[in-house]
Amino acid sequence: MMLRSMLFVPADSQRKLQKSVDSKADALILDLEDSVAESRRPLARAMAAEQLAATRVGRTWKGFVRINPLSSAAALEDLAAVVVDGLDGIVLPKADGAADVLCLSHYLDVLEVRAGIAPQSIKLVVVATETAAGVLNLASYAAKPPRLVGITWGAEDLAAALGSISNREEGGELSHAYLMARSGALMASAAAEVQAIDTLYGDFRDAAGLERDCRNSRRRGFLGRIAIHPDQVETINRCYSPSPEDVAFARRIVAAFSEAHGTGVVGIDGKMYDRPHLVQAMKTLAQAGVSSGNQGL
Ligand code: COA
Ligand code: MG
Repeated sequence: MMLRSMLFVPADSQRKLQKSVDSKADALILDLEDSVAESRRPLARAMAAEQLAATRVGRTWKGFVRINPLSSAAALEDLAAVVVDGLDGIVLPKADGAADVLCLSHYLDVLEVRAGIAPQSIKLVVVATETAAGVLNLASYAAKPPRLVGITWGAEDLAAALGSISNREEGGELSHAYLMARSGALMASAAAEVQAIDTLYGDFRDAAGLERDCRNSRRRGFLGRIAIHPDQVETINRCYSPSPEDVAFARRIVAAFSEAHGTGVVGIDGKMYDRPHLVQAMKTLAQAGVSSGNQGL
């Protein structure tokens, strides 16, 4: 599944649920965690389940639910309520490593049977850097835990966990611990062979800033990001789709290699391209849904 944009929707808000039905986001994340007050959780669970079931046929987005952390009793109540026909995936916050993903996967094994839905059909996206243990255990995702399709990261809960007064330096740039979390999430995604999903851009009125941030994020290797406001979805979808120029250049690289049979290196416009460039060009074409032919990779 391609997850360029994942729009958070507080699951206790009828208005926002209603508004999100026609969203162009690749996925909605109906939230039962931080955006919902504890007293409203039972209501939010029922509303999320109802929305997933009611939109099951014909919708264009994948339906995810962010449950509460596995360390809280609320997580099991969340799961018991929202594993219904129409649920595509769970977002697991505050994970301490791949062992949490495995545990959650076992819970889902049973709940899928109860709901009469195909085994392993519910996928997982993990928020992998919200606890100190989570950051230290990022390497555990290289074991490729079941159901995992994406890894995302967050800097807010980690700041609370570390006791940081802010996650930014006085000059405004992210402090090293948070850059490490971001880079670690990217590496863990590559090691697990799942999609790297960047964190939210909080200033939801700043479209130009979001665009700039998405471009840098895409350059780093992220293939999608969290949205918190409907206005962010279009920019995100565009920035994480290969541009026509990206696709054209990837085609030139693939063509140059295929014309130069048997050589590991080619020159294009006076620059050297070797195997890693071919691999990346093929990834770009795959992402754009373009067939690149068999290059024996
Ligand atoms: N999903 C669906 N609809 C949303 C939405 C969202 N995430 N955010 C805003 N909307 C709706 C609003 O309800 C409003 O529609 P309405 O006029 O029919 O009521 C419209 O979009 C415009 O909203 P706007 O006034 O610009 O924003 P706001 O001040 O109402 O809300 C936030 C701002 C940040 C509270 C809101 O965007 C939000 O709840 N975001 C998600 C927060 C979240 O889930 N956080 C947890 C993950 S970090
Ligand atoms: Mg949080």
